[in-house]
Amino acid sequence: MLNLLLTAVKLIAAIGVGLVILSGASLMALAAASEQPAAPLSDQRQAELRNFLEQDCGSCHGLRMAGGLGPPLLPAVVANKPEQFLAATIQYGRPGTAMPPWSAFFSDEEALWLARELKGGNP
Ligand code: HEC
Repeated sequence: MLNLLLTAVKLIAAIGVGLVILSGASLMALAAASEQPAAPLSDQRQAELRNFLEQDCGSCHGLRMAGGLGPPLLPAVVANKPEQFLAATIQYGRPGTAMPPWSAFFSDEEALWLARELKGGNP
């Protein structure tokens, strides 16, 4: 009886270790994937992002980014804010405010592109 119990405990422990190793491996795979050099965004994706900016972001920041529920994001307003800072706000949102996180929709590279778009810096 005790033996059976011990076997069960060992089995459960083994499954636990296996799960930890598995999730570690997938985390490493994720990290590796995000380290790959980013290909330039296609014209189609850029058009999608511009549309998203107008429709989704515009619902709070205004269709012309001149402000609404969210602050204005006009080039002059964000000029002195670093691209990385704006991109991080886009990806992670601002907890405690109405600004939601968008990382489910954009890669980090796309968030940087959006930050540059706001600054008027995209070709
Ligand atoms: C539900 C409303 C809402 C939506 C939708 C929204 N935002 Fe925001 N956003 C806010 C609010 C509110 C703030 C100000 C947060 C604060 O008080 O710091 C903000 C702040 C920001 C800032 C920081 C501005 C600064 O001057 O520091 C950026 C950049 C930004 N939003 C970009 C975006 C982008 C890009 C999208 C679309 C992908 C988006 N937002 C969608 C509400 C929204």
